[in-house]
Amino acid sequence: MRSSVDIMDQTADPAALFDAWMVDFRVLIAEDAGLTWPPTSADLSEVPPVLMTLATVGPDGYPRTRNVMVSRTEEGRIFFHTDSRSEKVRHIGPNSKVSLTVLAADRSKQVTVVGDAVRSTPDEEADAFADRSRYLQLLAWLSDKDLAEKPAEERHRVWAQFNAENPGMTPPETWAGFAVVPREYLFWTADSDGPSQRVHYVRAEGSADAWTTEVLPG
Ligand SMILES: Cc1cc2nc3c(=O)[nH]c(=O)nc-3n(C[C@H](O)[C@H](O)[C@H](O)COP(=O)(O)O)c2cc1C
Repeated sequence: MRSSVDIMDQTADPAALFDAWMVDFRVLIAEDAGLTWPPTSADLSEVPPVLMTLATVGPDGYPRTRNVMVSRTEEGRIFFHTDSRSEKVRHIGPNSKVSLTVLAADRSKQVTVVGDAVRSTPDEEADAFADRSRYLQLLAWLSDKDLAEKPAEERHRVWAQFNAENPGMTPPETWAGFAVVPREYLFWTADSDGPSQRVHYVRAEGSADAWTTEVLPG
């Protein structure tokens, strides 16, 4: 089940195109994991999430990147969740400008987004935490500088003890969600019979849903 949305269909809503690609990317990951698509709801949690390389800009003006999971997409917004003490959050505070790139597992597609990161609501953050695997919930609680500096044996002991003592978890105070609100999309597609190609969507000045588009070489 692959999306039939064509990047050359420049009347397409880029947010819908992005969402359709995220489904395609998830299908590829599921196939790599030996799961059929659509998976049963039980299997869905076993499909590893799509990753995006997220760039933020530091106070020194240099961009810095790291991979985070695409938690979900909604109405054109791309959500990720992280630790409020992280460098990315320190960057976003004074400078909301970010960029992200997602690459399909089979390297047939790449999409880059430029936009602004906006803090999620407490309800959205709580829902996203509830959707995380137990491992990732434990990670959100326990991943800090103090523990990172301890020897492996001590880290494993603290982890096992916290795991045993906390059967149900609510989000820690450091749990933070952000939505990237796109102002540009750059969709890249491979073509085994010819040159790769891109379509650049730029949000029209002051508009919520009008986009200018341009076709570019890959
Ligand atoms: C496969 C993979 C998935 C990751 N997913 C996340 C994530 O969803 N959220 C997150 O905060 N960090 C995630 N990380 C860790 C980040 O890459 C990064 O090391 C961490 O967030 C600290 O980043 P910062 O100090 O640059 O802000 C992931 C790393 C890898 C390799």
